[in-house]
Amino acid sequence: MSYLLAILLINLFVLLLCSLLTIAGRLLQQSGRVLLKVNERESEVDCGQTLLASMAQQGTFLPAACGGKGTCGRCQVKIEMGGGHPTALERLQLTPAQIAALMRLACQVRVREDIRVMVAAELMTARAYRARLLRSEPAGPDIRLLSFALDADQRLEFLPGQYMQVVFNQPWERVLRAYSISSAPSLQNEFSLDVQRIDGGLVSTYLHELQPGSVIEVTGPFGEMTLQPQHNETTLVLVAGGVGLAPIRSMIAQLQQHGFKSPVLLFHGARSRENLYFESYFRDLARNFANFCYFPALSQPMLEDGWTGQKGMIHQILELQLQSMPISEPGAAAFICGPAPMMQAVTKVLVAKGLASDRIMTDPFDFNI
Ligand SMILES: Cc1cc2nc3c(=O)[nH]c(=O)nc-3n(C[C@H](O)[C@H](O)[C@H](O)COP(=O)(O)OP(=O)(O)OC[C@H]3O[C@@H](n4cnc5c(N)ncnc54)[C@H](O)[C@@H]3O)c2cc1C
Ligand code: FES
Repeated sequence: MSYLLAILLINLFVLLLCSLLTIAGRLLQQSGRVLLKVNERESEVDCGQTLLASMAQQGTFLPAACGGKGTCGRCQVKIEMGGGHPTALERLQLTPAQIAALMRLACQVRVREDIRVMVAAELMTARAYRARLLRSEPAGPDIRLLSFALDADQRLEFLPGQYMQVVFNQPWERVLRAYSISSAPSLQNEFSLDVQRIDGGLVSTYLHELQPGSVIEVTGPFGEMTLQPQHNETTLVLVAGGVGLAPIRSMIAQLQQHGFKSPVLLFHGARSRENLYFESYFRDLARNFANFCYFPALSQPMLEDGWTGQKGMIHQILELQLQSMPISEPGAAAFICGPAPMMQAVTKVLVAKGLASDRIMTDPFDFNI
């Protein structure tokens, strides 16, 4: 009996020792420094964090529309050395051909050893900025318009439609969230964001509670849904759902500076009137510029809204309106921004009305859900 007990105690002791050694090994490995080489840029970074965070520590900022959850596929890089094997999530997002070509999602790779990464040159242009909150104004029950100023020596160059990533540092994690720039690019030392507060939302709540004078870190600009100079000369259909109006506002500000040379049709869908922000501003714009048309619609108007305008989902209103407005001219283009189901429904309508699918640009807001 005592012999069996001794064997059991020895086994327990060996097991405990192995566990302690493993934990110590992990801690030592994670607390060390490793070499990170991104294209020709080389530096030492902390071991154990994600490649996305390590690259940011080095000064290389990647787009991360989903905030690093592995669901948007925007943080793709080629890993030539180090980085271990692709995770199950990466295998879902990347094609077998991409995996064979050594492509990985930087947000899913843990940096535990020296690592060599190749990144497309256009992804190396984003920078980090210190942004001081100038104003925070309500634009509805859960939307605030936040205006930020950059440090005097900083300039932000972006195209309308692009977004910034707000960095929210927690002791254990660098949290990122994407917010579209709603101001015009001509304001190079300032920019604004339209932020909808999400119930229980970490960063949207933080931004809503931010006091003027507070400084936040943002990186960017990012995003391919952009208004290009040639869009000044062509019919544009702009469709926004709720706060999806933010990047569209930036586009409209730019188009207005050129005097709306071609027809611009803005469709904005919201649940009730209090969420239909900038309504009177756009009504004025439509009165003053013959080329600017505004089609607001409410899906669930409240009695007190006194709404006599269009009711329904925005894709239904779009379909109705386009019956009398052909948009199949060769250069016509559309920009759609909002929740993914709304964007799919709108795209379907536009394609059915003759707009080529490569002329329809979209940017979903809901990778984080
Ligand atoms: C390219 C891009 C541009 C964006 N631009 C804007 C913008 O201009 N203005 C803006 O307000 N937001 C924008 N977003 C959304 C924004 O990035 C965040 O996802 C959003 O603010 C929620 O973040 P959070 O940290 O507050 O919530 P989290 O802490 O991430 O989420 C809290 C909870 O809310 C749920 N949730 C997350 N997002 C939503 C949502 N949209 N609706 C309902 N439930 C949600 C989550 O599943 C979770 O349960 C954009 C997103 C992308 C990808
Ligand atoms: S940030 Fe990596 S997949 Fe979205």
